[in-house]
Amino acid sequence: MVEHVIDNSKINEIKASVDIVDVISEYINLTEKGKNFFGVCPFHDDHSPSMSVSREKQMYKCFSCGAGGNVINFVMDFENISFLEAVYKLANRAGIILDNKVYQRKNIESKHQDYYTVYDLAHKLYTNNINTELGKEAVEYLQKRKLDMKAIKDFKIGLSLKDNRMLINMLKKKGFDEKFIESCGLANRFEEGYKDKFYNRIMFPLYDLNGKVIGFSGRVYNREDKSKYINTQETEVFKKGELLYNYHIAKNIARRENEIIVVEGFMDVIRMRTIGIDNVIATMGTACTKQQLHLIKKMAKKIILLYDDDDAGQKANYTIAKELVKLGCHVKIALLEDHLDPDEYILKYGKEKFINRLEHAVNTMDFNLNYLKKQKDLSSSQDMATYVNEMIAELNTIEDPVLIELTLQKISDESHLDISFLKSKLTQKEKPEKKLVFKELPKEKITKYKKAEQYLLHYMLLSEEVIKIYQKKVSYLPTYRYRMLAREISYFYKEYGYISPSDLFTFLRDSEEEVMTLREILNLNLKEKYTKEEIYDYIKLIRDGNILSEVERIKNQMKQEIDVAKKTEMALKIVDLQKSLEEEI
Ligand code: UTP
Ligand code: MN
Repeated sequence: MVEHVIDNSKINEIKASVDIVDVISEYINLTEKGKNFFGVCPFHDDHSPSMSVSREKQMYKCFSCGAGGNVINFVMDFENISFLEAVYKLANRAGIILDNKVYQRKNIESKHQDYYTVYDLAHKLYTNNINTELGKEAVEYLQKRKLDMKAIKDFKIGLSLKDNRMLINMLKKKGFDEKFIESCGLANRFEEGYKDKFYNRIMFPLYDLNGKVIGFSGRVYNREDKSKYINTQETEVFKKGELLYNYHIAKNIARRENEIIVVEGFMDVIRMRTIGIDNVIATMGTACTKQQLHLIKKMAKKIILLYDDDDAGQKANYTIAKELVKLGCHVKIALLEDHLDPDEYILKYGKEKFINRLEHAVNTMDFNLNYLKKQKDLSSSQDMATYVNEMIAELNTIEDPVLIELTLQKISDESHLDISFLKSKLTQKEKPEKKLVFKELPKEKITKYKKAEQYLLHYMLLSEEVIKIYQKKVSYLPTYRYRMLAREISYFYKEYGYISPSDLFTFLRDSEEEVMTLREILNLNLKEKYTKEEIYDYIKLIRDGNILSEVERIKNQMKQEIDVAKKTEMALKIVDLQKSLEEEI
């Protein structure tokens, strides 16, 4: 077991002092129906209220996507925060004060506190600079770009001056040494000494996911320089690939509107926000890391990609859309024109026309039809073949049968190939038997032995009696994740003397695999009552399964064995094992 910093009894105290129905109804609308409350599930594209919340059990459960757990799991998943963050939030709500010493995150934060202080001081210096006489030229530049004083203030845009020791000198007075300032990504070391990394640039603050300033991007504005923007280099707190510009502002709005717009640059975000579009984030360039993809996916169901209308931007639209679709997202792509980026487009054509572009965002297949045609001469059979093959490969990556059919029709029209011929080139998709959108479980065959494991676990969660039988009679569950869960249940019972699925969720904290398995088992549709005979039947089946796979293993060994004596020994062992199938448990 991992060492936990806040102990379970404290967490249970916090959990017990909030009511799951009260907490969840602050996030979504709940309606009381009989013993339970119902609401539209926020974890999948739900249209009818599929989520039920039980005050009695202090649990929630979605009948459609399989999401479920206790109040901490809900807050974690809804807010996209860690276990400890969720506990901390709930503690706050309940008015329980957690000793800072035991709050692990606090320690990390205090370690980082010096960084935050430095960025905060730097930020204050920069925003002050732009308001002085020396900031006039920068303000004029921004005004030329149609960003007025209000925007400068709203987006906390600042300025680093020509003096390339200004920040260092200020921070030194506050007690920070040059080496530390360098490690914050704000100074560079030269033979003659340290210099500010940013000077004579317009400074855009960069934020972490919670809205703290953790770095800057500086833009040239009054001279030529080979780098238009320079960013704070990666530090302990600034990891460009793990954050999205404007995330902290966009996150709640995107969730509410169920839509997030993804752009390249922060000027695009800033411009869009000046015309009232706030559900927008920037990847800060055309590359998008895995972490960023996952963040985007969690922000909203519908994603609109809006990269610049140039080669790099279109390539980004293509590759990022593909990755997001792979993650199961609903993606559309909005297209601009005249090689413009969103910022320039809005300035040139205005808000209405821009919004119109967003409203006419196309699905990924329509985008691909155009994108893959570029640089091809479709009058050449070779190019046409490449194009058709590429499109078929694209179609193989999606599920939507209607979209597949519609796209095939279009390819058929263009290529004059028969639609049934094109269809024959698609790889057959297996129909998933049950759709669990929340977390996909490994696909595996459910044998009667595996079922027995599941059923046993299910009743262990409901009854101490079954746990005791398990502890006495079961030595081994063959499926790894079931074995682990059984161990946790047994351990929980030994430790606390009772069993409750809701508290078990807490006990498992954020060990994702185990939480997933617990959800899987709780979601089995089994009758509430069991008989002891049934439990013994499951246990016998599990044991038989173990014996039979041992027999199988020895048989395989035998095939490779040449020593006759050893072979005989093995055969005898098999006979023994088979006999033991008859034994009572
Ligand atoms: P762009 O070159 O499209 O910049 O780069 P932009 O947003 O249009 O900026 P303006 O309008 O010229 O001021 C898109 C994004 O790529 C990153 C920045 O995050 C920028 O917003 N970038 C670009 C850099 O980090 N460094 C660079 O030198 C250029
Ligand atoms: Mn631009």
